[in-house]
Amino acid sequence: MTGPFKTIEGTYDVLPGSKNRVTCSEAWQHAEREIRAVMYRFAFEEIRTPILEPTSLIARGIGQLTDIVSKEMFSFERGRTSYVMRPELTAPIVRAYLQHHLAQRPGQQRLFYMGPCFRAERPQKGRYRQFHQFGAEILGADDARADAEIIAVMMAVYEALGVGKVTLRLNTLGNSESRPRYYEALKAYLVPYADQLTTTSRERLDRNPLRILDTKVAHERDLLHGAPRLIDFVDEESRTHFEILKELLQDLGLPYVEDPFLVRGLDYYTRTAFELEHYGIGAQSALAGGGRYDLLATLVGSRQSVPAVGFAAGMERLFLAMDDAGSVSQSGTMPVDVWLISLGKKAERNAFKLLQVLRAAGLRVCCDLGSRSMKAQMRLANRAGARYAVIIADRELETGAAQVKDMASGTQTTQPFEALAKYLVTRTS
Ligand code: HAM
Repeated sequence: MTGPFKTIEGTYDVLPGSKNRVTCSEAWQHAEREIRAVMYRFAFEEIRTPILEPTSLIARGIGQLTDIVSKEMFSFERGRTSYVMRPELTAPIVRAYLQHHLAQRPGQQRLFYMGPCFRAERPQKGRYRQFHQFGAEILGADDARADAEIIAVMMAVYEALGVGKVTLRLNTLGNSESRPRYYEALKAYLVPYADQLTTTSRERLDRNPLRILDTKVAHERDLLHGAPRLIDFVDEESRTHFEILKELLQDLGLPYVEDPFLVRGLDYYTRTAFELEHYGIGAQSALAGGGRYDLLATLVGSRQSVPAVGFAAGMERLFLAMDDAGSVSQSGTMPVDVWLISLGKKAERNAFKLLQVLRAAGLRVCCDLGSRSMKAQMRLANRAGARYAVIIADRELETGAAQVKDMASGTQTTQPFEALAKYLVTRTS
């Protein structure tokens, strides 16, 4: 052994009172509360799915040739089963939707989620191997209003958490017929330049040329300027859908930029694709992404297609954007209502019992579990942000009444033990 164990690279602990927002448990609680509040306001219901999923669900759903499936899966075999630690939640949610016949519930299914995801990417600022997503999906809706609802709820989360300076990039990828036609045209354009392409793009040329549009390599981007444009191949229906969506976003006052080069890192998208960027958080600038995935259900075994649209966002990148915006999130440990101070063994026993009585009355109460001096216990009460300190020593046991100190004003009163809970509840609520 070479000293105490540490977290694995690309993972981190979340601690109370941490100065770094990403690793501060109070910041997580605050953000999770706000996200839930926004989701409920938009009438989304929570779904929770397992971290372990069948590898083939993810491979088929996201696409064999994507980076996520070909390079970044944490997967392993046990017996005859191949498991994967989920890299995202959209394919698992479609699985759950089919498995539990959620289509039989009335209307569209509006689901939201939060939870850990795993991708074996090279860790850097804003990129982890265990990271956390929140997101929302609407299943069973073909209408462009569903796309607009998804974008609206996503934007509302950032607004609620004080994050501005975001750019919504929007594109349409066409349907399952128009996309292959574009593949062919793009391929025909790029083949003569094959020797100028990076190895990754050359691999994609044969199997998934659309992903080449996503390149960050400068000379490839230059080359793509002369390439056929995706929008020219998009079918009429997808085009109309896109036009309606843009009008709806204008109605809602949600600004966007059209980006004909926007393709996503997952293969299941048709029609709408979007990404939310923030340029103040470093190279990993995508706060969130999503789009329409009308064919995903059939890819993972459904006989009928399920029109659906959704987004997912990184919690860690949300925190980086909140840092950039200087937005407040609760930091420091949560204050307690009451700190119990006891001196002497008998008083300790009594105070320990009183602790539970006050908690049962709904108060947040704590005490030192050592046997420190009165001064040291008072210091702990102060550090915990306690509003009241209740002091019990021999004299208090004899008289049956405790000393109650209001920590802000410093005033001290005496309260009989039986009246304590009521006295403190009325003053702290
Ligand atoms: P995605 O673009 O792969 O989409 O991931 C969504 C967000 O998760 C990213 O924008 C980013 O904020 C965060 N993220 C992804 N990988 C990492 C990482 N290694 N470290 C930190 N954050 C990361 C999806 O996952 C789709 N399921 C989105 C969707 C939902 N499409 C339709 N519905």
